[in-house]
Amino acid sequence: MTESSMGSFIHGLPKAELHLHIEGSLEPELMFELAKRNGIVVPYASVEEVRRAYEFTDLQSFLDVYYEGAKVLLEEQDFYDLAFAYIKKVSEQNVRHIEIFFDPQTHTDRGVSFETVIIGLRRALDDAQSQLDISSNLILCFLRHLSADAAMETLERAVPFRDWIAAVGLDSSELGHPPSKFERVFDKALSLNLKTVAHAGEEGPPDYIWQALDLLDVSRIDHGVRCLEDPDLVEVLRKKHLPLTVCPLSNVKLGVFKTLEDHNLKELLDAGLCATVNSDDPAYFGGYIEENFVAVQRALGLTRHHLYQLVRNSFEASFLSGEHQSELVRELDDYVGG
Ligand code: ADE
Ligand code: ZN
Repeated sequence: MTESSMGSFIHGLPKAELHLHIEGSLEPELMFELAKRNGIVVPYASVEEVRRAYEFTDLQSFLDVYYEGAKVLLEEQDFYDLAFAYIKKVSEQNVRHIEIFFDPQTHTDRGVSFETVIIGLRRALDDAQSQLDISSNLILCFLRHLSADAAMETLERAVPFRDWIAAVGLDSSELGHPPSKFERVFDKALSLNLKTVAHAGEEGPPDYIWQALDLLDVSRIDHGVRCLEDPDLVEVLRKKHLPLTVCPLSNVKLGVFKTLEDHNLKELLDAGLCATVNSDDPAYFGGYIEENFVAVQRALGLTRHHLYQLVRNSFEASFLSGEHQSELVRELDDYVGG
């Protein structure tokens, strides 16, 4: 298969994205537009200067820039515009289902209400369904560098919107903030019948993945690439068919792997793990989901079967109902068979 026919095969694949921070989809152009609309001064002279600043050495060096960028988001319409811009972009990449992380504390700590954030996002997701036939779920993430009490307070603010939220997650600075810190708040989320997920094994050790499984009862691990350091853990993940939401371009941008050729995605699949491909923070890491698929396919020489498996995994790992999952798998089978 030539490179261009593989590219068009990837483009046409019906896809799901399960690891996407909506604040990480803020493109510099929209950042400037929102800054102007809200009378906020951004510490960059131009779009080009913003893009030049996106040179990261590790997770923290990225998070510092990411939290700075999010300061332009103030009004409900800003959250709508942010989410709808992402939705439009991925609709052109044949994405059929999205599960979106949002970080309420990044906004509530600046005086923006929880309601403002979630109502703006929700309106965009409703329009995604009605205008573009893209289904979605929202995942509320707690910032792990903040306290467990602050996370609990955030969960309490979310209770009136329980029906709009599928799951809670854990993101931000991983090292030094193990899943165990959030056991109580995740217990409370589980008692509200929310699913749970957590970033673990991105920069942190396999032990953080064990903790996410044992203490937070997660349905998926976000990243999880360091699991291969622990064969017992691999065996448990495989037996439970516990999905990993892998983000190849992000991992290279943040120095988890030196190059894409060094990425362990193929080993994860070969180990029988339910790995999926996602973009994480596409505006900052140089690619949306399709660019992630194209780049990692080329770097690792993935076959059409690998690509099929990755997409199928993402439908099966989603929080969609069994019926909708089966419909999407059928769409995928029709595509690859046709
Ligand atoms: N928040 C946004 N992107 C993140 C990532 N890759 N890891 C942890 N927290 C994040
Ligand atoms: Zn992430």
